[in-house]
Amino acid sequence: MKEAKRSTFSGRIGFVLAAAGSAVGLGNLWRFPYLAAKYGGGIFLLIYILLAVTFGFTLMITEIAVGRKTHRSPMEAYGILNKKWKWLGTLSTLVPVIILPYYCVIGGWVIKYAAVMLMGKVQEAAGADYFASFISQPIEPLIWFFLYATATAAIVFLGVDKGIEKMSRYLMPALLLLTVALTIFVVCQPGALDGVIYYIKPDFSKLNVMTFVAALGQLFFSMSLAMGIMITYGSYLKKDSNITTSTRQIEAFDTVVAFLAGLMIVPAVFVYSGGDESALGQGPSLMFDTLPKVFAGMPFGSAVGAAFFILVLFAALTSSVSVMEAIVAGMTDKFKMERKRAALIVYAYALLIGIFCAFGFSIWKNFTIMDLSILDFLDFISNSVMMPIVGMLTCIFVGFVIKPKAITDEVELNGRFKEKKFYSIMVKWIAPVCIFAILVSSVLNTLGIVTI
Ligand code: PHE
Repeated sequence: MKEAKRSTFSGRIGFVLAAAGSAVGLGNLWRFPYLAAKYGGGIFLLIYILLAVTFGFTLMITEIAVGRKTHRSPMEAYGILNKKWKWLGTLSTLVPVIILPYYCVIGGWVIKYAAVMLMGKVQEAAGADYFASFISQPIEPLIWFFLYATATAAIVFLGVDKGIEKMSRYLMPALLLLTVALTIFVVCQPGALDGVIYYIKPDFSKLNVMTFVAALGQLFFSMSLAMGIMITYGSYLKKDSNITTSTRQIEAFDTVVAFLAGLMIVPAVFVYSGGDESALGQGPSLMFDTLPKVFAGMPFGSAVGAAFFILVLFAALTSSVSVMEAIVAGMTDKFKMERKRAALIVYAYALLIGIFCAFGFSIWKNFTIMDLSILDFLDFISNSVMMPIVGMLTCIFVGFVIKPKAITDEVELNGRFKEKKFYSIMVKWIAPVCIFAILVSSVLNTLGIVTI
């Protein structure tokens, strides 16, 4: 029997930690703080939480239930529910295929920074153009990237219970502890209070449609939705686990880490820049360029920097493992291939494409697509175009093809689903419309037609 062979998480907590591991990543530690600062601090926080408990809850519960109902990765799951929609599974598996290589390149940068800080070289890392000159070298970033990709592949190779669950059981609590400790340290620095107020106090004058659009986009990315990951993890969930409780816990974990990351980074940068708001709006280079400078000016700078980058490394690793697992699961389901073999093939693929991404900053610097580097282009296609499309189609699929009842019945196998009515309306009408809005605005934003 095929069913009996499928691996499972040992229990609900193992599942919750692994799924939270996927959700908590660079999105929480780097993207959230900077967005919150840009969109009026407290007001962004409020809207984000509101969207998380409505929109995020709907999408996450849908994916987990589809996975557990079919016990298949998305590659097969959609087809089992309705033959005509099998293509949506293939489309959603394509998202992690695009993400994996470049995520590992960024993961490599994180290891490099953790290593530099551990060696006590915070002053060096804080030097002008340190980051730019690092990524423009042809060979060094490749070495760190190989290391990171190999670690990711090794965990996936070990399997669901011995690899993914075990890693998450250690790394996720460690991550939470490190975040809390670092946040307390930063908040206690002289002058940090102004930054804390700036971060938490809602600035209603900054509230506009774009606040919603940015928060919604962030939610998608941060909760690893619409790329088949939650379906894959849900497929390893035993039938006796409560889905609503798990979803709430995963969301809470993700949101708490994002909130704390903001509480740590915003005041730190605030103090360093003397209250200059533009320092926070730096985007991708905030973490690798500005933060080392902030650490360099702090007592115990190297140690704090090392703790921070190790924290980011844990968060990134549990995310890239989930991205790789979604592809490997698709291959084992579709081609009835052995996990280890599938993992090796995906590893080789990630190495090959990742090299192109890394070269995009060095020897192929002048090669751009739509004015974006190779890495940024892949990021744009997956996050801003494909994820919203898959998310929207999933809602339409559930709302109008298999009908919300198929999901609510699965959820109700254990425990009540109090928000059933609300869920049906969300998945059918509100979510697809909102996602459509993100899609249009993020594409317009990237093409430079409007600025978010
Ligand atoms: N959810 C992760 C984060 O917050 C990002 C992620 C993206 C994870 C793509 C997996 C795949 O950073």
